[in-house]
This record gives sequence, C-alpha cells and structure tokens, in this order.
Amino acid sequence: MLRKLPANAVALMLTGSAMALAGCGGNVYASQSTATEHRAAAAEQAHHQRALVVEGKHIFRYDTFGDESFWTDKLKMNDVIQMEVSPKVALAVGLKVDVDALPAAVQQGIKNGTVDLDDPATTLALLKLNAVVGIKGTVQDIDGKETLTRVGVTCALCHSTVDNAFASGIGHRLDGWPNRDLNPGAIIALSPAIPDTYKAVYNSWGPGKYDARFNLFVQSKGVAFFTNGQNPPHDRFAVEIPPAYGLMGIDKEIYTGDGDIQHEPVGPVAYWNRYVAVTQMGGQGTFSDPRLVAMGAAVPVDNTHGGALPDLVTPALPALQAYQLSLAAPRPPLGSYNPSAAARGRQVFHGQGQCAACHSGQKFTDANIRLHSQSASAARDTDYVLLSATGKWRTSPLAGAWQHPPYFHDGSAATLWDVVNAYNSKLNLKLTVQQRSDLVQFLKSLPHRDEPRR
Ligand code: HEC
Ligand code: HEC
Repeated sequence: MLRKLPANAVALMLTGSAMALAGCGGNVYASQSTATEHRAAAAEQAHHQRALVVEGKHIFRYDTFGDESFWTDKLKMNDVIQMEVSPKVALAVGLKVDVDALPAAVQQGIKNGTVDLDDPATTLALLKLNAVVGIKGTVQDIDGKETLTRVGVTCALCHSTVDNAFASGIGHRLDGWPNRDLNPGAIIALSPAIPDTYKAVYNSWGPGKYDARFNLFVQSKGVAFFTNGQNPPHDRFAVEIPPAYGLMGIDKEIYTGDGDIQHEPVGPVAYWNRYVAVTQMGGQGTFSDPRLVAMGAAVPVDNTHGGALPDLVTPALPALQAYQLSLAAPRPPLGSYNPSAAARGRQVFHGQGQCAACHSGQKFTDANIRLHSQSASAARDTDYVLLSATGKWRTSPLAGAWQHPPYFHDGSAATLWDVVNAYNSKLNLKLTVQQRSDLVQFLKSLPHRDEPRR
C-alpha cells in the first residue's frame, strides 16, 4: 500500500509519526531523528521478517535437507515408486498433487483421460514437474529410459494438503493443514529395506498417523524403553499428525511440550523441526537432547558424520520457524456452525465445562504456564507421554479444530461431540445434551473473528 503513495507523502507520514512518537519536551529535533531511526529499523526488521517467511515457505515445501540418503540409498523408495507407484496408488496412500505445478496440457490430459493414472511413468512425470506434495524426485534419462534416481521428502509431506479443487487429492496447496489422509506407515512399509517384523508395525499405524519415536526407542534399540520401566506394546504410539498453523505465541510445541527455547535456541517450533528433519526424515544435520539421552533413546543422531558433510538443517531453522509462525489457523467455513449456539457454548466452555482451566488465554492453551500430568488427557491412550522428554501433556491449542478430526493425540475421539462426551464423563461435568451440543458449536467456531488466527 505504501508503494502506491508518492515518496513525499510517505516522508510526510513518517515525519508525522516521528513527531507523535517524540511527544513533548526535550530536544524536539533530536528525538525526532531518533524516532525516525527507530522507524527505519522497524521497517528493516519487518522487511527481514517477510523475506524470512518467503524463504521458510520454500524450505517447508521443497527442502529435503539431503534426506535422499535415507529415502533413496537406504530405503530404495526410488525403485519402489518407479516400479509400483502409479498416480492412483499414490493418491490412495494419501499423497496429494499440486494443481498449480501442472501445465494446462497435463491438466487437460487428466480431465479427458489421455494421461494414464495407472502408470508409474506418470508418477515420474509428476515428480519431474515437482507436483507431488512433500516428495522431491530427480528423474534422469538413463540408457534412453526415464529413471527416478533420487527421491526425498519435505515437511509438506505430512503438514500440507490440497483443497481438492481439481479432483480428489489434486488441488491448491494448504500449508500447515495436517494431511490426515496420508498413510506414512504404509508408504515406509513398501521399502524392501524394512524387516518383516517392523513392516507389521508400520502397517498398523493407519492414515493420518505417524510415530516419531518408534525408530529412536524401539527400532534402533530392539526393545522398548519407557521412563517408568513398563513395556506397553510398541506398535500403538502412532499419533495424529497435528496442524503446523496457529502456533504463534505458544512456547511449548508438540503434544507433550518437548519443544521449547531452553532446548533449541532458535525456538520451540525449531526444536521439533530439527528433531523431525534429522531423526525422522534423515536430513543432513544433528540432533540431541539430554532429556532423551537420559531415557536411553537412540540420540544423539549425527547425519553429518562428525561434520564431514555440511549441516543442511541448522541454517534452515530460523526461516522454517518464521514460516510456520506466519501460518494462520483457518476460519470455519460460512454456515458450518450456529453462531448463537456457539455463543452459549462459550459460556459452558468458561463455566460448568471447566475447559478454560486448561484451554486458557487467546490461544486456548496454558502451555506457556504449565504442562499436565499423564492422567490429565481425556484420550483413550495416555502412555504416549512416557516416550517424551517432558513426560507430560501440553494442552492442545484449539484454533482450527473444526478442520482436523479425529481428536486427541491418538485420534480416539472421532468428532468434537466425542471430545465433549469424553470430558463430560472423565470430569463428571454433568452437562446437559443442550450444553454439550452448544459447546461443540463453540469449538467449531474457532478461530472466532475476534480471536487471533496465527
Ligand atoms: C512423516 C510425517 C511428518 C513429517 C515429514 C514432518 N512431521 Fe511434523 N509432526 C509429525 C507428527 C506425528 C507430529 C506430532 C509429534 C508429537 O507431538 O509427538 C509433528 C509435530 C509437528 C509440529 C508441532 C505442532 C504443535 O502443535 O506443536 C510442528 C510445528 C511440525 N511438526 C512441523 C514440521 C516441519 C517443519 C517438518 C519438516 C522439517 C515436519 N514437521 C515434518 C509428523 C511429521
Ligand atoms: C486438565 C486440563 C484440561 C481440561 C480441563 C480440558 N482440556 Fe482439552 N486438552 C487438554 C490436553 C492435555 C489435551 C491433549 C490431550 C491428548 O491429545 O491426548 C487436550 C485436547 C483437547 C482437544 C483436542 C485437540 C486436538 O487437536 O486434538 C479438544 C477439542 C479439547 N481438548 C477440548 C476441551 C474441552 C471442550 C474441554 C472442556 C469440556 C477441555 N478440553 C478441558 C487439557 C485439558
């Protein structure tokens, strides 16, 4: 908007505000120039921030951090895709296609059936166009044959989906929206490098779920490690992929609040980004956390081989975090809830429902004040905390909840109605059917127009 104004008008505006900032008293001219310097610094800062967000968006969508060494050299997923994964198979395991990366001719071909969606060669063509959300492939001509030589994954694999504008699974990107159709376990289980014993575990996770602890606690050690010495079956800790939006101002990240600035100087989101990029995606970087070391997890992880390879993760963290913090929770679609019922539900939320005791403040979470004990979760499973650095739960933020059923870390509540009923019995709230249904309408209304979305 500033760009459209003539330069002298901008200068006038800046001087005007500088004078306002300088206020009365003292040397007006000196304070005026200091204020102008402050404004210039603030503008510089804002510019830097915007550039960081743009860079972070690119990293989030397209950066593999060199994880091809895991997905290609170790898991051989390039061979699997080349031989077995047609676009239909890819869509069936929940992968999404970015319609904006498809040339008009390809879009037309998909519409009129001349592009063969049953042929893995078409998947290679899509990868060549960089159109498969979260997957990056290198396709090369080898002895006259199109060959997928390298493949890796990006953050968008799990934390982006599409709006299905073109067809089911094909549309415009929605970054930060969890891909609850994606079946990461089933995809990994396709790898010939995974032993049969683990294949069963990967296949048991199901769509929308991922266990970011399995390889550190079970697979690499061969046994299950838990803080309290119990050994619950290790195949049931896949958790719902959470949204990566609406996180601005929340000091603790992930279901168990492991991510914080004490354990990652770049910030709480960056803590987890480093964890996933290095220990799960196989990116070229390092991760450690003394809390997990003490629990016997298979950390530190050093994919730079003691610095022999460049660290591709650490330099990406500030921009990556800035992008995630810029992502706003989506507003509920028009007409998707009843506003007057939601207004009544707000009273229940803050009153008899006792929800605001934990879901407090503008973000509906007390994460910045405290974490909660294992028994505080109303989910079916509560043992997942035993695999965390904190051993506790973070109260989940609620903006955008309408968008991502099922609920709780284990997905044990299929709907918001189930969530409310779970609390009603666990906390013995004695809410009437009317109160419960109003509460559901309130949850569906978030972020309300008066609430911050980021
Ligand atoms: C294979 C799927 C997968 C990939 C790839 C992945 N994540 Fe995640 N992400 C998860 C799961 C599962 C969790 C929840 C873990 C937990 O809470 O214990 C999570 C948690 C998060 C959170 C915490 C959200 C909150 O509410 O605090 C953020 C932010 C996030 N991921 C961002 C990223 C970024 C950035 C990348 C790329 C570096 C990435 N993820 C890659 C599956 C994935
Ligand atoms: C004692 C603290 C506490 C109280 C009281 C509480 N919650 Fe929660 N809430 C949590 C925690 C912790 C989680 C995460 C649990 C998990 O995922 O296992 C959560 C998760 C949720 C979720 C799921 C969010 C998601 O992304 O999956 C919803 C919805 C929710 N709570 C709504 C409510 C409502 C409605 C009430 C009041 C009836 C309420 N909560 C009362 C602590 C609380």
